[in-house]
Amino acid sequence: MSNVYVLDHPLIQHKLTYIRDERTGTKEFRELVDEVAGLMAFEITRDLPLQEVTVKTPVAEATMKTIAGKKLGLVPILRAGLGMVDGILKLIPAAKVGHVGLYRDPETLTPIEYYVKLPSDVEERDFIVIDPMLATGGSAAAAIESIKKRGAKNIKLMCLVAAPEGVKVIQEEHPDVDIFLAALDEKLNDHGYIVPGLGDAGDRLFGTK
Ligand code: PRP
Ligand code: URA
Repeated sequence: MSNVYVLDHPLIQHKLTYIRDERTGTKEFRELVDEVAGLMAFEITRDLPLQEVTVKTPVAEATMKTIAGKKLGLVPILRAGLGMVDGILKLIPAAKVGHVGLYRDPETLTPIEYYVKLPSDVEERDFIVIDPMLATGGSAAAAIESIKKRGAKNIKLMCLVAAPEGVKVIQEEHPDVDIFLAALDEKLNDHGYIVPGLGDAGDRLFGTK
């Protein structure tokens, strides 16, 4: 079964509180999402393999470590996942970025796929699927299914806020995918919104309504 990790570092909790606050405007919301995505990426990449290299400092030669050239791919779920990409790329600038376009039908809450583009060497990469919100879990489960169908094998899911309902769906449909969250909230409301959540992530990031 998928492991669930809540990355509740004080800096993440602090920034997430301001992200949730309805008084936070688009500019600040975007900046905070970017910062939290970077902090989460720091934790998620903790298991990256290292290799030994020799380095000559001004004082002596020494054996040190660098990342072992692991190929990573980010897959933001459009559109709100885009808000987390730059924050992660600041730490992992060599990662390639694929995209899965999905939106939730507002009546049925089922995901409708409209776009998929992945790096050509999909089978050689480890992927992080990113979306600020894991609500019913339908969008993330469909995005993961979509990239698996195209050859992705090692996949992690990274979201800011999740509902228990969404976590359960990923655990049932994709037990091989570990889930990384900034917060696990209480529940979904009747409209499929996370409570307390942060509202509509896409609208708040892009200033739409
Ligand atoms: C939001 C969010 C997730 C999805 C989560 O996207 O960014 O992708 O809802 O809900 P689920 O877990 O119930 O599927 P939305 O469909 O609003 O599209 P947008 O990103 O284009 O605004
Ligand atoms: N999508 C959002 O943007 N917010 C929610 O609370 C649920 C789905």
